[in-house]
Amino acid sequence: MLNMDGSKPLVVLDDQILLLDQRRLPKEVFYYKANSVDDVCFAIKEMVVRGAPFIGIVAAFGMYLGIKATENKDEFIKKAEYSYDCLSKTRPTAVNLFFALDRIKQVIDEKIDILPTHKLINKIRATAFSLWEAQKEQDTAIGELGAEFLKTRRNILTHCNTGELATGGIGTALGVIKTMHKKGYLDMVYVDETRPYLQGVRLTAFELEKEGIDYRVVTDNSCGILMKKGLIDAVIVGADRIARNGDTANKVGTYCLAVVAKRHNIPFIVAAPESTIDRNIASLNEIVVEQRSEDEVLNFGGSLISPNNAKAVNYSFDLTDNELISAIITEKKVYTRYEF
Ligand code: MRU
Repeated sequence: MLNMDGSKPLVVLDDQILLLDQRRLPKEVFYYKANSVDDVCFAIKEMVVRGAPFIGIVAAFGMYLGIKATENKDEFIKKAEYSYDCLSKTRPTAVNLFFALDRIKQVIDEKIDILPTHKLINKIRATAFSLWEAQKEQDTAIGELGAEFLKTRRNILTHCNTGELATGGIGTALGVIKTMHKKGYLDMVYVDETRPYLQGVRLTAFELEKEGIDYRVVTDNSCGILMKKGLIDAVIVGADRIARNGDTANKVGTYCLAVVAKRHNIPFIVAAPESTIDRNIASLNEIVVEQRSEDEVLNFGGSLISPNNAKAVNYSFDLTDNELISAIITEKKVYTRYEF
């Protein structure tokens, strides 16, 4: 019996994948059915699914859907190229998308002359599963390392959603929070609502509730008063791309949090898998920041909230300089400021 109660963000069937539609959570548990690579491209672009590592995993299954019905090598190569191209154009900032696509491409390049087409197709599917499994293990390791690192910091502020919905495992920053809760290290989680897509109030709150973790939703501009009142012991966020020097791209609003945390001497922590570190880029100057539709800012709950002619600017991410980051926690280790 297929479990579609919303407890899984992704269900893989033989010829389609089901994606828990994050646009509708927490009000409605609805699975978007992706039968083709075009469906997957739509789902990533329109944020049916989101979160850097999860985008990568879903894209890997998208590659599988793109090539699954191929008879011969020529057709396979054409379809693989089309799928790679379509998926790589969906969202530009999260490096995990390109990491996963390149992993699939590497398997194709290595095996195309060795394996018959049907075996190659199975191998792509297996590689997508192994990326997902690896992410789950990485999340657990990040959770352990992070929880011990933050042990004495009992009140945590977080931004966006970095949990299961964003990774397919326990999550990165939210995985640390969940692990702290399990170990009895946590008193309170403050959850930024995260305008305009509301990943905090909708998705992080949804996950914290499932785990029975005490939390308060706060507006995105509350960090100043919360920190001034001494309510926050540490800030922990995820990342979409980390440059070699530790500069980090993450959901818009992250940089503002880091600046205010520095002013209050509060540790500002980034949690992400090693695959989020883009060793090809030296600093934040080389990170492409996605800009999304003005409508996301000017509308709320499906209704226009601005005057008809209002214009908006909608950077989906911002860039935080390494000097504002106290530590970056990956599955391998805790990098402190001077190791970036
Ligand atoms: O636009 P989104 O929702 O895909 O942005 C997500 C974030 O910014 C997350 O913090 C980041 O991807 C890390 S998820 C573990």
